[in-house]
Amino acid sequence: MSSQSLHTSQAVSAPEKEFWCRDLVSICDLSPQELKAVMDLAGLMKARPWDFRGALAGKQMAMFFEKPSLRTRLTFEAGMASLGGVSFFVDQTQSRIDARESLSDIARNLERWVDVVVLRTFDHSTVATMAEHACIPVINALSELEHPCQALADYFTLQERFGDLRNIRLAFVGDGNNVAHSLLLACACLGSSIRIATPPGYEPSARVIADAQVIAHETGAIVEVCSDPYTAVSGADAVYTDVWTSMGQEHEAASRASVFEPYQVNQELMSEAAPNAVFMHCLPAHRGQEVTDSVIDSSRSIVFDQAEGRMHVQKAILLLLLGGGMNRLPIRSVHA
Ligand code: CP
Ligand code: NVA
Repeated sequence: MSSQSLHTSQAVSAPEKEFWCRDLVSICDLSPQELKAVMDLAGLMKARPWDFRGALAGKQMAMFFEKPSLRTRLTFEAGMASLGGVSFFVDQTQSRIDARESLSDIARNLERWVDVVVLRTFDHSTVATMAEHACIPVINALSELEHPCQALADYFTLQERFGDLRNIRLAFVGDGNNVAHSLLLACACLGSSIRIATPPGYEPSARVIADAQVIAHETGAIVEVCSDPYTAVSGADAVYTDVWTSMGQEHEAASRASVFEPYQVNQELMSEAAPNAVFMHCLPAHRGQEVTDSVIDSSRSIVFDQAEGRMHVQKAILLLLLGGGMNRLPIRSVHA
């Protein structure tokens, strides 16, 4: 986002100014305090949705998706509608966003028309470049590097289930890419604990691990990466997996299926976790591959709570970035 915002900030309250007109390209765009503020607001919006109706009236959101989506698209669209705003979806699955013109030119158009842009892209640099050139908030709805909205919703769901996140450990078993990266960074911000097990060659990016460790040093989080799924899951409070073959990697599906087979989350692996451990998945799930039916359909599974959390968290993100309503918060009634 350039410093030459089209918006005027005179009417916004102090809390709004901290978020107002910022981008969410990476979890690293939020300080640990800001990440907690997003989750707190999401909790308030979930508890009192009627207090936020109309909070983004007159606001417009454009969404450009180069990859398919069920949850991310619909939770953004339904969330925006519930706040009184409108959204425009542009299907970019047949061509990359910048196939016709440069990203900087697209950014300079969009900022004249709409209030926020949401992007799902193959290259993280597409989201980053849009954010650099557009003077309106740009939100990453999944790139190959990160899925920040997902990780925020996942930790929101874990907080609902367990309370203090500093007392739990998440085990992530599978591919160390976008979802694992954002979970690592969110865990670090929240002072929680995470142990990631990936096959050799599929570890999280060294840069993301280093960033998470720097944040963890500040927050007291514990961030560990290993290759043994049983080591990761042993005693864990939550066991998380993601698809073995992410969108855009379909040509690698066969080779990945054999590499990742020992990382399947099944009842045997779940039995190593803490007695009250939950199962998590960002979805869509490839049943019979990274997770068995007996685990994802069990009473331990909270995958649909996660999916619901996407809506509450993204509404909070939109409200904070668009400056549409901190002054509408029912502060007195909430604390009454
Ligand atoms: N978890 C997630 O992002 O789902 P979609 O790909 O359906 O948006
Ligand atoms: N890692 C997966 C996440 C889907 C929500 C992918 O990128 O396809």
